[in-house]
Amino acid sequence: MTQPNNLLLELSGVGKHFGGLTALSEVSLHIQQGEIYGLIGPNGAGKTTLFNVITGLYQLDQGTFKFGGNAYVRCKPHQLAQAGIARTFQNIRLFANMSALENIMVGRHVRTHSGIWGALSRNASSRAEERAITERARELLHYVGIQRPTHTLAKNLSYGEQRRLEIARALATEPKLLALDEPVAGMNATETESLKTLLQSIRSDGITVLLIEHDVKLIMGLCDRVAVLDYGKKIAEGKPEDVRRDPAVIAAYLGGESISPTQESGADVGRDSSRHSQTFIRDEFRPTDNGRE
Ligand SMILES: Nc1ncnc2c1ncn2[C@@H]1O[C@H](COP(=O)(O)OP(=O)(O)OP(=O)(O)O)[C@@H](O)[C@H]1O
Ligand SMILES: [Mg+2]
Repeated sequence: MTQPNNLLLELSGVGKHFGGLTALSEVSLHIQQGEIYGLIGPNGAGKTTLFNVITGLYQLDQGTFKFGGNAYVRCKPHQLAQAGIARTFQNIRLFANMSALENIMVGRHVRTHSGIWGALSRNASSRAEERAITERARELLHYVGIQRPTHTLAKNLSYGEQRRLEIARALATEPKLLALDEPVAGMNATETESLKTLLQSIRSDGITVLLIEHDVKLIMGLCDRVAVLDYGKKIAEGKPEDVRRDPAVIAAYLGGESISPTQESGADVGRDSSRHSQTFIRDEFRPTDNGRE
């Protein structure tokens, strides 16, 4: 649970622009070690952009970003992975033709020492390291609840298993912070409930969790605190039950506009046309049983 004055991630005044579009503006967040922290907001609000900033895929344009008390400026993804930030992606990114075990081993290599020459020469220490990596990957496969032969190709796993495999790969980097971008999107209620249990175990094992999610039941039942982004700005932060009632949050999701049936069935494309799909109050902020993507 939350430990006061034990900050893990600190964003101060973070801004990110794409040409004329402001994806993040003056975003400040403080996440305590051991928290499960939710990040929500309508489509295009900047949630994934924030993940991309803290994992080094994007460089921020304004503000500062500290992790474990250290400032990270213009860092590459592997440097932030080594610092202890791991993530999963909104759209699953696995090596489809590699086995489940190998996908996890890829993550583990962030923490290995032999390097490319050790791997090529297959000396004794690199062989021992490789055995340890394989063993840890097996443990993680089991830990995330994938009960399949380890050689099963990633592409042959079910959708829910693939999501879990991504989490296992992220855990293989031994993160302090696990950032999950919509981990239950497309899952049914049973799969979602079981993923919730997994995330609780991950937190119990001492890993801080940052969670982007539209599944409000999950956010409510899991997060210690939630921040809401809207048009790149943080418009609310607090306990989930308080945030849910916040008038600014309600306004952001409903926009004070009526939503026509045509709009509701439209595909999510640009920001303006997609906001209608974020029926925070009517659909997304009450228990859902989402269909597959
Ligand atoms: N690489 C990019 N180039 C240009 N615009 C971008 C880029 N990445 C994101 N954007 C824009 O920044 C805004 C925020 O996008 P982002 O993907 O962070 O939203 P999001 O909150 O994750 O939305 P969703 O809930 O739909 O996943 C959007 O308007 C998006 O089109
Ligand atoms: Mg996103």
